[in-house]
This record gives sequence, structure tokens and C-alpha cells, in this order.
Amino acid sequence: ATERTLSIIKPDATARNITGKIVDKLESAGLRVVAQKRVKWSQADAEAFYAVHKERPFFNDLVAFMTSGPIVLQVLEGEDAVAKNREVMGATNPADAAEGTIRKAFAENIERNSVHGSDSSENAEKEIAMCFKADEIVG
Ligand code: CMP
Repeated sequence: ATERTLSIIKPDATARNITGKIVDKLESAGLRVVAQKRVKWSQADAEAFYAVHKERPFFNDLVAFMTSGPIVLQVLEGEDAVAKNREVMGATNPADAAEGTIRKAFAENIERNSVHGSDSSENAEKEIAMCFKADEIVG
């Protein structure tokens, strides 16, 4: 079914000016950008977004990284968008990412891994609601 997912182009990618290259891979995979904005997160923004990871050893570093520079928030729409986006992103750790994926091509390491994508339809709905108002999404 047609669904939506939340995508984030992370600070390591905006710093290298490769947001267009990443969008090209998303669009080539059949995903449509139906909302997009460039923002800089506060510490509170990043902590709220990644609250599910609060107890993880990498949480503080992750928050510091995600607030270190601009990010691009996107809503992607398409057939099985959550799974399709995860496929085109590749594994969280670029060392494990398949050939042709965004993380294989661009990620620097497991933290500076260029993109985030929702991991389920349920989380996609929550993450989209955290990042966008309804009228900012134009399908
Ligand atoms: P993301 O898909 O945004 O979800 C959580 C993020 O934490 C992940 O991508 C990585 O950027 C970061 N991270 C850092 N270290 C780890 C780790 N050991 N395992 C998983 N994620 C990590």
C-alpha cells in the first residue's frame, strides 16, 4: 500500500553538500519527497526524537552529533515506503551496507551514517507528527 515514512539527512551529509545526491537515490528508488525542510535541532529536539534510545550507550554522542549542524527532514511517500527507504539506506553500520545503498556510498561510520529512516509504519506516523504540521505535507 502507499504509505509515508520520515527521512532525515544528517549533519555529516549536509556538511559535505551531498543532500542532492541522497535525494537522487531516494527518488530513483521510487520514493517521492512530499515534505522537506532544513533545520538545526536543539538538544531538546534531538533528545525528544531519539527518546527510544535514551538508555543506550551511544545516546549522548548521537544527540551531540544530530545537533552539530543542519539536517534535512523529509516525508517520503510511496508503495511500502518504510521498507523501501530502509532498503535504499542500507544497514545502520556502513561496513555492513550493501552495494548501491546510500550508507555504502556516503556514510562515514555507524554514527555519522548520513541518513535516518523510520523503522516501522507505527514509528513513521509518530516521527512525521513530531517533525511536520499536517499542512506542510503536500502529496
Ligand atoms: P538512526 O537510524 O538515526 O538511529 C539511531 C542512530 O544512532 C543510528 O542511526 C546511528 O546514527 C546512531 N548510532 C551510533 N552508534 C550506534 C550503535 N552502536 N548502534 C546503533 N546506532 C548507533
